[in-house]
This record gives sequence, structure tokens and C-alpha cells, in this order.
Amino acid sequence: MKYSRIIGTGSYLPPRVWTNDDLRAIMDTSDEWIQQRTGIKERRWVDQDSTTSTSDLALQAARAALTSASLSRDDLDMIIVATLSPDHEFPGAACFLQAKLDVPGIAALDVRQQCTGFIYSLSIADQFIKTGMYKNILVVGAEVHSKGLDKTTAGRDVAVLFGDGAGAVVMTGSDDASKKAPRIISTHLHADGRFAKELWIKAPGSGDAAAWLTHEKLDAGEQFPKMNGKAVFVNAVKRMPEVISEALAANGLTVADVDLFVFHQANLRINEMVAKQLGAPDDKVFSTIERFGNTTAATIPIGLDEAVKAGKLKPGMLVASAAFGSGFTWGSALIRW
Ligand code: UT7
Repeated sequence: MKYSRIIGTGSYLPPRVWTNDDLRAIMDTSDEWIQQRTGIKERRWVDQDSTTSTSDLALQAARAALTSASLSRDDLDMIIVATLSPDHEFPGAACFLQAKLDVPGIAALDVRQQCTGFIYSLSIADQFIKTGMYKNILVVGAEVHSKGLDKTTAGRDVAVLFGDGAGAVVMTGSDDASKKAPRIISTHLHADGRFAKELWIKAPGSGDAAAWLTHEKLDAGEQFPKMNGKAVFVNAVKRMPEVISEALAANGLTVADVDLFVFHQANLRINEMVAKQLGAPDDKVFSTIERFGNTTAATIPIGLDEAVKAGKLKPGMLVASAAFGSGFTWGSALIRW
């Protein structure tokens, strides 16, 4: 097997819609502020009183992806779950998903690379398949952010941005060496840990002299994500076009060769600036941010699945995907669909 390819996609969004006006009822914000700054109109959040977890959303997306791939769960050799909101601190969400899918024994791996988690996971799966170690790998991005956000006015700069959801792809090995055969053409991965604290959750963790988690840390709100929004914004609009250009140059391709851009969705303004820098026409840029907000690692696989369902992503197309987020991490994938 020289190549890996995506043979199925699936996604799952919790049914409960939270509009910007719904958020206005619980914090000091407005539909106008959120739409102007981010483009977000609504997002999905799981029922806050339910036990619904990240692996529950992942399970729905995984089942849909397996159906679309016409593959049985017993065909899988490995599960990779990208998430920053696992069911529990450990073990990883991939283990909980594996148990719910009822495929004991196969490899299960969590990837903690935040918004770039799906691109990292795609790359990992690609390497395992290309070496011939595994044939079929389920790659899922899933998040339940809503239970971990500060949903008061103090946390509004972050809380309004994030939504819950899951997306999945099934990847398999291929020997088809023809130039236009469906495959992962390349992935490019980057990180710069000097910016780790620009977007992070401080506690629980081993980085303090105090215990893993204390009442004092909780009282200080250290369990909630904190973000330097401007620093993230500035770096995202620089790194995303850069890593797409890196991928195109590595393969002797140009922006004009790309049929569809499926970017990470953190902010409509970021993606408009990225598209402008690349010279990518609007009708080639797929967007989900208006409906789902930022679903972090789930965003790109949800985007791929939504694009397939909308008839915008068809066999033979060249897809360029890129993400930027906490870490900082960023990366791109070029895919012949
Ligand atoms: O997935 C990767 C991670 N995330 C990102 O890529 C996000 C990157 N950053 C951004 O998208 C933007 O920086 C934000 C959308 C987060 C913020 O936009 P901004 O234009 O940078 O706004 P700001 O942080 O400068 O805030 C402006 C004002 C502040 O008030 P004052 O100090 O000017 O009086 C904030 O307190 O807006 C206020 N504000 C809000 N007002 C209403 C912050 N959040 C809200 C809110 N509703 N939800």
C-alpha cells in the first residue's frame, strides 16, 4: 500500500441550537457583536444536564462514516480521536469510543492538538497506512466544549465562539499509483510552543507547585479556557496561507488547481483574510462557522462531510485543508477526493 485515501465521511451535531440571542439571555453579549466579529449566528451545545460526552458524539459520527465507507466496524485496525475535551482526564476518548463501537483489541489513540488535531490525526493515519502497518483507520474529531466554558459575562470572549460536534472519516490503503487517483497527497505539520499560553486551560495540571486541582484553582476559574484573541488572530491569518502555499509548492500545484478549500472555522474574518491572501475565490471556500461556531478538532471532518452532503465535494476534486490553533499548532492537508 503506497497511499491512503478517504472512503467515507460522517458527522453528528447535537440537536439543541443556541442562537446568539439565547446567549444574550445568560451573559452580556449581543447578536450584533458576535456576528460582526466572528460571523457566527448559532452553535450546537449538548443538553447541559445530560451525561452526553465527547465519545457519544464521536460514536454517531463514526457510525455514519463507516456506513458511508460501506465498511464494518470489524474491518477497522485503529481508531484515532482528536479532541481537547475528552470524556475524562484519562484514559483517552478513543478508548471510550472503542468500547462504545464494540471493537475491543484494536489500537486506540488520542491526539491533543486542539484546532489542528484533525490534520495531525489524518497525517498519523496516513503514515500508518503507507507503511503497511494498518489498512483501515477511523479518524474522528469530536468536542463537547459547552460543559467546559465559563458561560458568564466574564467568559464571554471565549464562550460565544465554541460549539459541540463530531466529524469522522474512514481511511484505507490503496495501490493505485495513477496521478489523479484518490489519496492523501501530503500533510504538513507545525507547532510553536513558545505561544502555548496564548490559548490554554491552566488547570487541572502538573504545572504548578500546588496539587493537580484545588478549590483555589477552581475559584480562580483556572479550569476555563483563556485566550489572547488578538495574538491568535494575527498568527492564524499568517500561518494558514503559509502552510497551504507550502503544501501546494511541495506538490508542484497552484491555488488555481484547488477545487475546494475546507479550512478550520474559528472566525469568518480569519478565513476571509486567508482566502484573500491566497487569491482563492469565495465559491471555492466551504464555510460552516455561521451554523456551528468553532468546533475545534471536529471542524474539518464536519466540513468535509457537510461539503459531500451539499454536493460541493465530489470524486476527483482537489481539496486543500488548513488549521491553526492552540499550541500554537498549524498544518495543512492536500487531498485528491
Ligand atoms: O480556533 C483557534 C482559536 N481561536 C481563534 O482563532 C480566535 C481568534 N481571535 C478572534 O477571533 C478575535 O480576537 C475575537 C473574536 C475573539 C475577538 O475579537 P476582537 O475584535 O479582537 O475583540 P476584542 O478582544 O478586542 O474585544 C473588543 C471588546 C472588548 O471590550 P472593550 O474592552 O473594548 O470595552 C471586549 O470586552 O469586545 C468585548 N467583548 C464582547 N462584547 C460582547 C468580548 N467578548 C464579547 C462578547 N460580547 N462575547
